Amino acid sequence: MLASSKGLGKACAIALAREGANVVITARGKEVLEATAGEMRALGKGKVLAIPADVSQSQAAEDLVAATVGTFGGIDILVNNAGGPPFGSFESFDEAAWQSAFELNLLSAVRFSRLAIPHMRKRGNGRIINIVSLSIRTFLSGSVLSTSIRMGVAGMAKLLSDEVGPDNITVNNVAPGLILTERVRDTLPPHAPEEEERLLAERAKTIPVRRIGRPEELADLVAFLASPLAGYITGATIPIDGGAIRATAP
Ligand SMILES: NC(=O)c1ccc[n+]([C@@H]2O[C@H](COP(=O)([O-])OP(=O)(O)OC[C@H]3O[C@@H](n4cnc5c(N)ncnc54)[C@H](OP(=O)(O)O)[C@@H]3O)[C@@H](O)[C@H]2O)c1
Repeated sequence: MLASSKGLGKACAIALAREGANVVITARGKEVLEATAGEMRALGKGKVLAIPADVSQSQAAEDLVAATVGTFGGIDILVNNAGGPPFGSFESFDEAAWQSAFELNLLSAVRFSRLAIPHMRKRGNGRIINIVSLSIRTFLSGSVLSTSIRMGVAGMAKLLSDEVGPDNITVNNVAPGLILTERVRDTLPPHAPEEEERLLAERAKTIPVRRIGRPEELADLVAFLASPLAGYITGATIPIDGGAIRATAP
């Protein structure tokens, strides 16, 4: 489970641990990562291995996969997640910003998938789940880096699902709309703590269910896609957005 000390990644790691999976978690900040590992171990279910790493780095990908296989003997499930690229207009980003978004949000998913697939083949099954963004399905102002790069992830996942389907490996994308994490809190205008609820309610006004999602709700979807129940779902991009996409066709 990549990028998993906080937010969506943490919720997914906890959901998988609750199901009894042995889970490897990773993030750059060691302290928060260890605290998350402690919460997961307290569930008393599967084993937890916490490895501080930057998932945008190629050596880190090699080391993480080697440590996972060394500790647990293989890989059944890969959840590709990472921090999000910054928001801003097209003209506000230089070449370096595009390059780092590419490394963080596309190349990391490519690398980890490439490294994990041979181990999944050995086991005779596998699940690859990419956390992308609703912005690949519907307009989100200021998300040019995220949208452009994640459309690459969706393209890769679709083609990969065709290639690895015969090996009983599924590849899917989960596309969150607005789910309450630190990344979303950081996009609120400066405010006093007691104003937060009102500001969030304001943001939820155009969402059919009239609220922002909880990370656990996305995590339940990821746990389902990772389970044997979801063996016939592959090559799909599944929104989890409280109905925020207004289109009637995919
Ligand atoms: N929340 C939403 O509503 C929403 C909507 C659409 C898309 N998304 C996307 O979903 C992903 C997760 O979002 P979130 O809201 O959960 O973010 P978050 O609350 O900021 O959490 C990000 C997590 O990823 C880790 N991380 C960030 N960069 C990393 C790196 N280079 N290497 C390893 N770990 C890294 C962070 O820990 P460290 O900082 O310690 O590394 C943290 O554990 C992002 O790509 C975001 O753009 C979120």
